[in-house]
Amino acid sequence: MKNAIVFGATSGIGKSLTELLVKDGYKVAVTGRRLEKLEELKKQFPAQIIIKQNDIQLVADVEKTFDEIVTELGVIDLVVQSFGVGFVNPKLDWIKEEQTINTNVLGVTKLYTLSYNLFKKQQLGHLVGISSIASLRGNRASPVYFASKAFQKSYLESLYLKTKTIKSKKVFITDIRPGFVDTPMALGEKLFWMVPVDKAANQIYTAIKKKKRVAYISKRWQLIAWVLKLVPAWLLKKAT
Ligand SMILES: NC(=O)c1ccc[n+]([C@@H]2O[C@H](COP(=O)([O-])OP(=O)(O)OC[C@H]3O[C@@H](n4cnc5c(N)ncnc54)[C@H](OP(=O)(O)O)[C@@H]3O)[C@@H](O)[C@H]2O)c1
Repeated sequence: MKNAIVFGATSGIGKSLTELLVKDGYKVAVTGRRLEKLEELKKQFPAQIIIKQNDIQLVADVEKTFDEIVTELGVIDLVVQSFGVGFVNPKLDWIKEEQTINTNVLGVTKLYTLSYNLFKKQQLGHLVGISSIASLRGNRASPVYFASKAFQKSYLESLYLKTKTIKSKKVFITDIRPGFVDTPMALGEKLFWMVPVDKAANQIYTAIKKKKRVAYISKRWQLIAWVLKLVPAWLLKKAT
């Protein structure tokens, strides 16, 4: 039986992905702040779910949670970072900016480093980060969210480059970049090409199985990504 950890499994993409992993035979350690949501998953799949309540913003505790799971499960085949917060914050309210940095940057970095170092030691493993199409450019309504996603994208690419030094060649890094997925996280009002969460999770799981370096969810967002990478900032300013 393969072992996975899904950080941010209490709702949305992380929860749907957990269900797919369990159905495919994985044992999954699930985390998040809402204990009752973790317990629901445990009730659904008692033999295959381990629950660890955690608040990723308490960065000092992340290592303890991570180590406890590794001790309990042994070899970890897959770590999924599906936690995150995002706010529409045009007035740049500091509480929201800080919470986003603590979660999407500090917490994420802690998890990425723990995962990479474990996989290097094991000489196998797959780290999957859920960044966003938002990683590609800036945004006036939600600067810190977009910047935090750019950070994740860049960090994941760096870890991918670092895998060159891993002899077994069995450590993989995947950056998942969703557009809009129908979860509480979907930011803004005029949302288009919104994908139901189950469809998104299915596409993400396919990308995981193929050990993709980067995947856009849904696939048509790759077109938007292509345009976003080319468009100059003055045009972005005018058009958005
Ligand atoms: N939905 C979209 O349109 C979209 C688009 C692009 C990228 N994404 C990215 O996809 C990922 C998953 O988001 P989602 O759409 O599935 O949203 P979601 O349903 O709101 O899920 C977010 C998850 O993050 C966890 N989380 C948030 N803060 C946490 C904290 N301090 N400590 C521990 N866990 C925390 C939540 O658990 P608790 O609240 O229980 O702690 C929840 O399980 C995020 O990284 C998001 O940025 C989403």
